[in-house]
Amino acid sequence: MRIVDVIARKRDGGALARPDIEAFVHGITDGSVPDYQASALLMAIVLRGMSAEETAWLTDAMVRSGDRVDLSDIAGVKVGKHSTGGVGDKVSIVLAPVAAACGVVVPKMSGRGLGHTGGTLDKLESIPGYRVGLSIEEFKQVLRTVGCSIIGQTSTLAPADKKLYALRDVTATIESVPLIAASIMSKKLAEGSNALVLDVKCGDGAFMKTPEAARQLAAAMVEIGSHAGVRTEAIVTAMDAPLGAAVGNALEIRECIDTLQGHGPVELTEVTLHLAARMVVLAGVDTDERIAAARVREALGSGLALETFARMVAAHGGDPHIVDDPTRLAAAPDRTTLRAERSGYVSRIAAEAIGRASSALGAGRERVSDPVDHAVGVVLDVVPGQAVRAGDPLMTLHHRGTRGVDEARARCAAAVAITDEAPAAVPHVLAEVR
Ligand code: URA
Repeated sequence: MRIVDVIARKRDGGALARPDIEAFVHGITDGSVPDYQASALLMAIVLRGMSAEETAWLTDAMVRSGDRVDLSDIAGVKVGKHSTGGVGDKVSIVLAPVAAACGVVVPKMSGRGLGHTGGTLDKLESIPGYRVGLSIEEFKQVLRTVGCSIIGQTSTLAPADKKLYALRDVTATIESVPLIAASIMSKKLAEGSNALVLDVKCGDGAFMKTPEAARQLAAAMVEIGSHAGVRTEAIVTAMDAPLGAAVGNALEIRECIDTLQGHGPVELTEVTLHLAARMVVLAGVDTDERIAAARVREALGSGLALETFARMVAAHGGDPHIVDDPTRLAAAPDRTTLRAERSGYVSRIAAEAIGRASSALGAGRERVSDPVDHAVGVVLDVVPGQAVRAGDPLMTLHHRGTRGVDEARARCAAAVAITDEAPAAVPHVLAEVR
């Protein structure tokens, strides 16, 4: 098999055979396929697509390019979770302890924020002492004792994806449902869970801008999971406005604690409990969805989920007392409030602009090596649909001196629209793919 023939076959709309795909991924991993040929094949895939079978083979080859975490010596069904990312998306940090409090084992490997989207690891690292870099043995020990653990992805997981992603980033070949699905699922399958729930974000602040595109990606990932023998379900959720009020690392941890105490934002609570109930069903703790839903509400209402969160934080070396005293989290020294210029209804709070504003204040990074400021960010005082009067507070910037304030203020002001008519209410969970 010559790579040039494989490229030509895909260029002409043909299907690739499994050995061709395996040889390609192998060549990417050991460097024997040069970047120019890999890029040509990637572009042919973007233009011609891939069948479900080709996508499953690609994913499998990428999983096998590195280590696969073996969780078989941990009792119970292990249910992983992935979100395609958005602004203010702190669901994993609330969800993992809720599901664990219901008896689900939740192994979770997460990433850092880049561009306008935040990262779960950066948020967790705003908890004093929390270590995201546990060894696999330490990770497994936390899973055994607490039931959930959130760590960083190890470098030996799906190395082919790292190389391909870097190439896709600079060759305009990111935007392809089979390539995105294979990229995400190769990492998730390598994490060793028995089942998976996926939260595909859709809208202004998300990778997928339309419900149709989000549904397609969700369906492709669910299909890959089932090919691999891992029960996988996806929901498509709205990401036109930030999820919850807080955007920024320590600010979001505060909101997670509020949510685990039962008084978090409605949409964050709704999305989290929806996913938690599905994890309870996938783990076989309950088969009846209504009973599962009641169980997750009870875990939240009884305080057991909050206690599980504190135990997870402590097991990672973090300060568990933040749950009783969130002032132990970093706080920015300065505040600036943005106010409504007119009366009416808040009809839009554009997620991407708020994410970029928070990043400009120092909460995010443009390059992987940039440091983040855990204390800064943006807190919304209003939700879409809310009536406001001229002069009412819309949001508060938490900042350090003047760093990024002008840019953040301009972005936030442009993100909000106030209209005479109330906008139509949009559901938070837009679709489910099982
Ligand atoms: N996230 C990934 O991990 N891979 C993609 O291709 C896109 C988003």
